[in-house]
Amino acid sequence: MNLRKLIMLPGPTNVPDRVMVAMLNPVMGHRTPEFSVLMKGILDKSKQVFQTSGDVIVLTASGTGGVEAAITNIVKPGDKAVVTVYGEFGERAADLVKGCGAEAVKIESHFGDIPKIDQLEEAFEKNPKAKALVIVANETSTGCSFKQLKQAGDLAAKYGAYFIIDAVSNLAGEDVPFDKIGADVVATGSQKCLAAPPGLAMVAISEKAKKYITENPPSLLYYNIPRYLKYAKELQTPFTPALPLYHALDEALNMVFEEGLQQRIKRHTMCADAFYSGFKAMGLELFAKERARSNTVIAVNYPKGIDDKQFRGTLDRDHRVIVAGGFGEYKGKVFRVGSMGEVSRYHVLTTIAAVNQTLKELTGQVNSKNPTEVAKAKLAGL
Ligand SMILES: Cc1ncc(COP(=O)(O)O)c(C=O)c1O
Repeated sequence: MNLRKLIMLPGPTNVPDRVMVAMLNPVMGHRTPEFSVLMKGILDKSKQVFQTSGDVIVLTASGTGGVEAAITNIVKPGDKAVVTVYGEFGERAADLVKGCGAEAVKIESHFGDIPKIDQLEEAFEKNPKAKALVIVANETSTGCSFKQLKQAGDLAAKYGAYFIIDAVSNLAGEDVPFDKIGADVVATGSQKCLAAPPGLAMVAISEKAKKYITENPPSLLYYNIPRYLKYAKELQTPFTPALPLYHALDEALNMVFEEGLQQRIKRHTMCADAFYSGFKAMGLELFAKERARSNTVIAVNYPKGIDDKQFRGTLDRDHRVIVAGGFGEYKGKVFRVGSMGEVSRYHVLTTIAAVNQTLKELTGQVNSKNPTEVAKAKLAGL
């Protein structure tokens, strides 16, 4: 059975063959010098991707594990945390805060938009002792991203709050420079903009957060950050790592630096721009407000009368292109395209052409504009 399809999901995404092949490396002992060499490479390169001089740990877990570790190692019973909620992943972050026995001060915005910095400021004025500010940098469920990370970091610093970021779906696809924005804990996953298979979460930790977490260790076993930091000093992991995924991540990180991090972010920006322009040329309405639009997840409203299952089923069956549906209350109303990882001219133009053809068949309407030409114009040099 040939399972190869164009995976235009907001994760997991297409994985380059050389990253897949890296998983054929033989299994090694994880308490050996060979493993430490692999680990050193991953940690050094991960720090550059996070743009931090601080520490990074790698968890054998999906992105949720990284976010859970980030929040549960900082937030304690009785604390308050300001949390941006502009989609499903913000809701989950707020639930995690509550699960720690703390209060989540939710800063909400209409889905399709992002909270404003004034709203955060107001929340801190009312809750000056809030222990943390938790922001989902890229809300995969709505195709929106929070653009004012530096201002948010400054605000957290002003109030002495730890700045925690869920960058699962945009690290390496959008600029999230850890040190520059004053982040304290940032979590990401392997299967999104890094174009590695799913199964690993990376978490970057500032000196300030490290001191706090080490002096106030959580009563957790697996997601216990101090344990990972202690073992990372010896280039080891506290628990058995998913070795094939480590090899894959190492190779995926090599590819990031062969391309250059900033060039990779630029490519994501160009591809997102081409998608937005191409979909608009089809007469489709974009879900996210222009000022909120994500660089890595393109959310589009279905035109009236289009059935989600039929649309995505046709794309899959006839074009072997896989896109995601809407989340929660937007199921059936929105489709989402992941524009991340190795996304380039081929992925964008193939997806645009397949979506255009499918809509033409399902609606019987023909566009006056040629969406492929419109998208192509945005991809010069790619
Ligand atoms: C912003 C964000 N946070 C967290 C997650 C959870 O990641 P995972 O499904 O890898 O656990 C996702 C997954 O799509 C995400 O997009």
